[in-house]
Amino acid sequence: MALYKTKMTSSSSPSMFVNITTSLFLVMILFSGSSLASLSTNFYHKTCPNVFEAVNSVVKSAIANERRIGASLLRLHFHDCFVNGCDGSILLDDTPSSRGEKTAAPNNRSVRGFNVVDDIKSKVESVCPGVVSCADILAIAARDSVDILGGPEWKVKVGRRDSKTSSFSAANSGVIPPPTSTLSNLINRFQAKGLSAKDMVVLSGAHTIGAARCVTFRNRIYNETNIDSSFAKNRQRNCPAPAGSGDNNLAALDVTTPTTFDNKYYNNLLSKKGLLHSDQILYNGGSTDSFVEAYSKKPEDFSEDFVSAIIRMGDIDVLTGSSGEIRRNCRKAN
Ligand code: HEM
Ligand SMILES: *[C@@H]1O[C@H](CO)[C@@H](O)[C@H](O)[C@H]1NC(C)=O
Ligand SMILES: *[C@@H]1O[C@H](CO)[C@@H](O)[C@H](O)[C@H]1NC(C)=O
Repeated sequence: MALYKTKMTSSSSPSMFVNITTSLFLVMILFSGSSLASLSTNFYHKTCPNVFEAVNSVVKSAIANERRIGASLLRLHFHDCFVNGCDGSILLDDTPSSRGEKTAAPNNRSVRGFNVVDDIKSKVESVCPGVVSCADILAIAARDSVDILGGPEWKVKVGRRDSKTSSFSAANSGVIPPPTSTLSNLINRFQAKGLSAKDMVVLSGAHTIGAARCVTFRNRIYNETNIDSSFAKNRQRNCPAPAGSGDNNLAALDVTTPTTFDNKYYNNLLSKKGLLHSDQILYNGGSTDSFVEAYSKKPEDFSEDFVSAIIRMGDIDVLTGSSGEIRRNCRKAN
């Protein structure tokens, strides 16, 4: 794990130490300024040492106020990263001259948490004005949400910068797969972002928290056969058919422990209680069955793999160095 410091063993000779230090230094020179310029956990160490505390205090009170908001913040980070990289673009409001991601199909009437992001941004601006990007705020808030809701902890990498634009058409282009997706579409969409099928399965475990609207699972609970029949009947009670009424009625994505970040999502799939078509398709006789089985049996493996996958997700096409900007208001470019 690159994120954790490796200790020098006591048997290492001083000259070895010098060699290793020198080569690390050379590697750092090689990489600095290139497009591989990367994020680090201590990026704000000097410029905003209290950033994590500031974000955490706002996320904590938002979740105390409404537990679901943790799920909503986690999802914002995912939707940000999958459309033109983790650059805060999902936070930009539409303007008369340009339509952004917020009203694109995967997001409209669906993503939420923007007011909490505003609150976090004001708090962070009050401790270190003009320093911390909105894209980083999403990554930190996602990490804090998972932690507060009982999931694994990790050191979040920061140093992202914010985009100046947001693209309606990019967000609508299918890069965020719809819940009606086939398994191969899900795999391909994650592969396109450098994430494996296993990463896709483990990141789908985020559906251990949060809720979905009836319109996103209606067809599954009335028409599909790989579903537990009493679960389907229960879900039908608050999601009427045919389409049109009750579209926005909510149901928990994890029927077992809806507001706790755990591995029960996978146990649900084993008993055909996945809410979305795209959830159950991960355990339907296909190539990803073995991952689902493993995560249902081993919560520690789920935690460990989720952490490494979400860190990789947070690296997607980030803006660093002098690209982009540090937005003053997450809703609009400076
Ligand atoms: C594998 C492909 C995925 C598909 C097809 C998918 C689809 C969906 C859908 C349809 C909803 C409900 C939206 C609505 O009601 O309008 C949802 C909610 C959610 N998704 Fe996903 N998702 C996927 C992957 C992910 C990933 C990778 C994450 C995060 C790492 C994530 C986190 C969430 C969360 C936390 C919610 C609940 C949000 C809330 O309650 O506000 N999803 N997803
Ligand atoms: C987005 O949702 C609003 C209602 O909240 C609706 O009026 C609008 O037409 C939708 N936009 C798109 C592009 O679907
Ligand atoms: C069930 O499937 C049929 C055929 O595709 C479709 O016309 C109908 O709308 C579906 N029912 C629901 C409740 O989605």
